Amino acid sequence: MKSVTSKKTDLTVRKNRELTAILEVSKVLTTSFVLEKNLSSVMSTLGSHLDMQRGCVFLLDPLSGELKIVAAHGLAKANIVKGKYRIGEGIVGRVIEKRTPMVIPNIGKEPLFLNKTGSRPEKDGISFLSVPIELKKEALGVLSVDRIYSKKHGSIDDDIRVLKIIASLIAQFIKLWESYEQVEQEKEKLKRELKGKYNVENIIGQSDRMQEVFESVHRVAPSKATVLLRGESGTGKELIAKAIHYMSPRSRERFIKFNCASIPEGLLESELFGHEKGAFTGAISSRSGKFELAHKGTILLDEIGDLPLALQPKILRVLQEREFERVGSEKTIKVDVRIITATSRDLEALASRGKFREDLYYRLNVIPIFLPSLHEREEDIPVLIDYFLRKFNKENKRSVVLDESALKVLLNYQWPGNVRELENSIERLVIMSSSDRIGAKDLPVSLSISRAAKPDQTTSLTMDIEEIERSNLYNALEKSGWVQAKAARLLGITPRQMGYKIKKYGLGNHRG
Ligand SMILES: Nc1ncnc2c1ncn2[C@@H]1O[C@H](COP(=O)(O)OP(=O)(O)O)[C@@H](O)[C@H]1O
Ligand SMILES: [Mg+2]
Repeated sequence: MKSVTSKKTDLTVRKNRELTAILEVSKVLTTSFVLEKNLSSVMSTLGSHLDMQRGCVFLLDPLSGELKIVAAHGLAKANIVKGKYRIGEGIVGRVIEKRTPMVIPNIGKEPLFLNKTGSRPEKDGISFLSVPIELKKEALGVLSVDRIYSKKHGSIDDDIRVLKIIASLIAQFIKLWESYEQVEQEKEKLKRELKGKYNVENIIGQSDRMQEVFESVHRVAPSKATVLLRGESGTGKELIAKAIHYMSPRSRERFIKFNCASIPEGLLESELFGHEKGAFTGAISSRSGKFELAHKGTILLDEIGDLPLALQPKILRVLQEREFERVGSEKTIKVDVRIITATSRDLEALASRGKFREDLYYRLNVIPIFLPSLHEREEDIPVLIDYFLRKFNKENKRSVVLDESALKVLLNYQWPGNVRELENSIERLVIMSSSDRIGAKDLPVSLSISRAAKPDQTTSLTMDIEEIERSNLYNALEKSGWVQAKAARLLGITPRQMGYKIKKYGLGNHRG
């Protein structure tokens, strides 16, 4: 009598455990859409509720016809990778081939058992149970577990029955996961296509920030609207201005660039608006200014923030009326010109200090486009490096590549001079490198100052004095928009010394 009761209780306990395990598994499978994570939790549930150890889910890769472990419980990572079977190979391979469960009562005595993962040092006494994962006749994979049978818990048949239920739950989850993945992939694809939509020729920018810039460029290009380009020196303002011009209906007309910070104040007006013969000493003949030259085309007024106050009303009038007079003339000239302005200065601060007219500020600020600094869009750095390597390799008939270590250094650098500095650095590397493969050790020390350190404070003994000087020089030139006289003042040296140093460090041929 007693033994019958205890058998009955054992059975009830067993049934309860089965139900709990199945319930647990179905819960686990709906917690997320992360395949590995969910399946691993299923395996550990089987371990804790049903004493099934080393559970594995193999999924069939329809392309390679291989079964690969996607989730495993009680297996080391290295062993997981080793668990690969072809259809028909080993027990697992046969289960998927025959679509029927298989049991090896004692794997120690079974030659078919390949133990590829090498995870069972002592094979004797372990049973191996394996069931196919399938849905509507489609084979998806295999679920397998190890089991040590004691007289107490259940039978192989019980276990197979439960495993079949679990396998069907897993099959449904995998189907669900696949359709979810498909939707995600399509979303990604759409995103990528959308990104491609805003390509601007010869301008690199995969980052969201640059994509926004490109989108604005596409929007404003067809119109005649005045655009204000803002961003640090070297972020690509001039490049964007040109893109706007070449994507506009004016593309066949001229693109005239004028840097408001480049010449002395006294000469600015006549440069921009032209002058009549005898308008001032030295004006031996009449001459047209940049606005006239840009008639029908586009003019870029670079460093507009440096425009002297005295000239600002005249520019405002051109912006509003498209008219002006040459220096020394009463005759009003009308031009049809698209005006793009650019600045690296804080116009708001200038305006609040009375250095920049507010009415001009508002007139310019109708369509501002902000160019992010390079370190605000690090994901573009590798793409830019690739682009410039290609460009300068071609120009110099070289085939220089950067190795991982060099790339890492460049990714870690702050790039105060933005894309211009990156471009110049790559050009220098391509030209100067004696080998075709550049490693971190081949990079100039100034580039190895990582973002974490402040460039001005890094005066470690290992740093070459010349590199410090060069980087100071570079920073000063950047800050002053590459106007040498200004940079000299910043550094407290004479323009002559400046000229000498620029030559010494090969900073002269920069494009800006
Ligand atoms: N996104 C970019 N893709 C490719 N080259 C770029 C990009 N941005 C800037 N450059 C290059 O960097 C240099 C500096 O750009 P530039 O337009 O003169 O900057 P800014 O006018 O803002 O100082 C130029 O040689 C330009 O061709
Ligand atoms: Mg510029």
